Amino acid sequence: MKLKRNIFVFAVTIAWLAVGSQVFGQSRASIDFNTAWFFRLDSVSDYRDSRVDYQDWRQLDLPHDWSIELPFDSLSAGSSGTGYLSGGVGWYKKSFTLSEEESSKRVYIEFGAIYENSEVWINNTYLGHRPNGYVPIVYDLTDHINKKGDPNIITVKVNNSKQPNSRFYAGSGIYRDVKLFFTSDVAIAYNGTFIITPVINERQAQIKTQLEIVNHSAHRQNGITVETQVYDPQGKVVSQGQIGKLRIDGEGNQFVEQNLTITHPLLWSPDTPHLYRAVTIIWEGKQELDRYTTVFGIRSFHFDAAQGFFLNGQPLKIRGVCLHSDLGALGMAFNRSAARRQLQMMKDMGVNGIRTSHNPVASEFLDLCDEMGFIVMNETFDVWKHPKNTFDYHLYWDEWYKRDFADHIKRDRNHPSLFIWCLGNEAQEQWHDPELGAAIPARLAAIVDSLDGTRPTTIANNEMSKDNPVLMSPAVDIVGYNYNHQKWASFPEDHPTGKFIVTEGTSALASRGQYDAVPVDSVRMWPLHWDIPFDGGNVDKSISAYDHVHTPWGSSHEESLRLLETYPHVSGMYVWTGFDYLGEPTPYTWPARSSYFGIVDLAGFPKDVYYLYQSAWSETPVLHILPHWNWQDGDTIDVVVYYNQADEVELFVNDVSKGRKAKEKDKLHVSWAVPYEAGSLTVVAYQDGLEVRRTTRQTTGEAVSLVIKSKRDTLNTALEELAFLEVVAVDTDGNELPDFNEWINVEIQGGGTVVATDNGNPTDLTSFQSLTRKAYNGKLLIVVKGYIANGEVTVSAHSDGLKNGTRKLVME
Ligand code: GAL
Repeated sequence: MKLKRNIFVFAVTIAWLAVGSQVFGQSRASIDFNTAWFFRLDSVSDYRDSRVDYQDWRQLDLPHDWSIELPFDSLSAGSSGTGYLSGGVGWYKKSFTLSEEESSKRVYIEFGAIYENSEVWINNTYLGHRPNGYVPIVYDLTDHINKKGDPNIITVKVNNSKQPNSRFYAGSGIYRDVKLFFTSDVAIAYNGTFIITPVINERQAQIKTQLEIVNHSAHRQNGITVETQVYDPQGKVVSQGQIGKLRIDGEGNQFVEQNLTITHPLLWSPDTPHLYRAVTIIWEGKQELDRYTTVFGIRSFHFDAAQGFFLNGQPLKIRGVCLHSDLGALGMAFNRSAARRQLQMMKDMGVNGIRTSHNPVASEFLDLCDEMGFIVMNETFDVWKHPKNTFDYHLYWDEWYKRDFADHIKRDRNHPSLFIWCLGNEAQEQWHDPELGAAIPARLAAIVDSLDGTRPTTIANNEMSKDNPVLMSPAVDIVGYNYNHQKWASFPEDHPTGKFIVTEGTSALASRGQYDAVPVDSVRMWPLHWDIPFDGGNVDKSISAYDHVHTPWGSSHEESLRLLETYPHVSGMYVWTGFDYLGEPTPYTWPARSSYFGIVDLAGFPKDVYYLYQSAWSETPVLHILPHWNWQDGDTIDVVVYYNQADEVELFVNDVSKGRKAKEKDKLHVSWAVPYEAGSLTVVAYQDGLEVRRTTRQTTGEAVSLVIKSKRDTLNTALEELAFLEVVAVDTDGNELPDFNEWINVEIQGGGTVVATDNGNPTDLTSFQSLTRKAYNGKLLIVVKGYIANGEVTVSAHSDGLKNGTRKLVME
């Protein structure tokens, strides 16, 4: 008990120091409020009282998802949809103290999001309730905090006990960043800036800043000046302007507009993601009342019915993927470096677009999309007023949709990566309610128009009938199809004036590294129909990765990729999905607990189709061969090759040619059926008759040691960076075994910790926190976090009979 108390005092001191050092002398300050929270999972007792003794609760740092820590449970109410992980009621508490200086400012707490149904108290004052689990939540603490160094207690109750409330894994808890921020009485309102660029040409860009200024004091403020300075990507001031003599009534707000000009603007695009910063300063005489930074970008775009999407005057096909918000083994707990890893893998594959399916993402995720260059389709709702699950958002729709949607728009509308508002995904109103099916799109589109007049709207539809009021809504700018690839060609006849985007496509299925011995061109539809329960498939609930298994509503990867590239009127497509995600293990159920849709598996290891897209979408030279070359003598094996930047490719088994092939019209791969012989399988690519590259798969021998591979050797602790280590088993020649599936134990020494392990197998029921896990088809993932700056950490992996693998990481 004593030890815990000491930890507590230490944590409070750290928090206090952090607050004190950052706020002093500044007109606005924001501090990280993620550390030293106390947590208890308890659906019986009530802990709202600030005098509750919580010293024996678990201490943790946010972001936190408690569902990912629970055992997989075949009886969980969320069932396969949410990956057999349960919800419950969780309580969080944190104590903090403010200095006199800090208490003299206005004080707010901002939660990036809380899943779901959160209630918050400060000391014993109730601050509010928010059912939505994805939108930011902000509370004004100013009138309720204890001044002059007396402790304050924040209590958060999270009620995710009513299940099922989601079709996919949504996690539980305070799973995004929490901040405290401090302002003067007169300040920019919460998310109160909007920067648009109404005129853009090579010579100049006109910048219009729309500012909402609030005055919280009882008195009218006269003589207010607003100044905005615009910084270019190099940090040089390139424009500035002032508006003076403003009057803002007591307890009121006022909208102010400034017009600025930038010469020779650097335009934002996926290849050149240039970011500008507008720093807005509010002055009262010589006193600075607020200083607020808005990051924005300069780009023009439009959608054309016949020619698709244009960015900065040039046609650009949107080659996108849908991503759910979970980060695999980390669950929903947001981590910037984990999100960056996902986005970098997508970028390297040639992806230029992300659909944030089906809910608001962390704002830091959109910051990454701005910096790295993606065309984001931003989605707010999977459910409107009609339910998909008993306890989902339909329960809150009437009371909350306007506020939730407005808060989402206001948070995100300055992001240059944001191009399209997607108002909903496969809403039940498509079928069940002609009246609301017409009314809701119109109401939502009107909210977009009132808060962001610069971006088009779409809706993800999966009912193509003209009786679908949602599909036919005149209020929506771009017609969005989920799937239905057979109808993409005839879109111009079906919707003569419509602009078209594939909001969601493909839904093909695969387990990484799994190859069934059936001909690759034998397409399998699993399940046969969406409402026919599936009782076929493989005994181990795996799915072959030859790109020949897909859902009945979807297609193979190759098929929809080809159609996307064929029709100019298809402005883009977002493939379902870039990464596997927790939940929806279609077509299987228990023990399958995560999806098979990803181009990359849940652990972040690419499946073979990754290279199909990379060969079609990127400038990276690709020569990828599948499957592995460990079979039984006498087997006939289908060999598939994805390639680009070559005229033809030649296959060799043990140096004997099996012939040259080039991709036939409409095909994005070549294949051979060859008798297996142990040894080597090599493919050579030729351009103008000359060899340009070659790739070999070797039959591997016995495993002799483990090797830990890492893309990085350093970790920045201040940025909460994670290292993603890959464990493989190798034979005496150093060849990686593609079929190694043994148990591996992980150990860590030094100033770091293993936050998760995974292997990408959708049926593995081992806890993601376990340090012992089987490899899956040759790979295991270890996620490491360092906690001592300038320290070191050594990770080792052990499997019976093999030499250990080790890896050292140095903390910055
Ligand atoms: C879509 C839906 C997605 C996902 C997908 C699986 O209809 O929008 O959320 O369920 O099917 O194929």
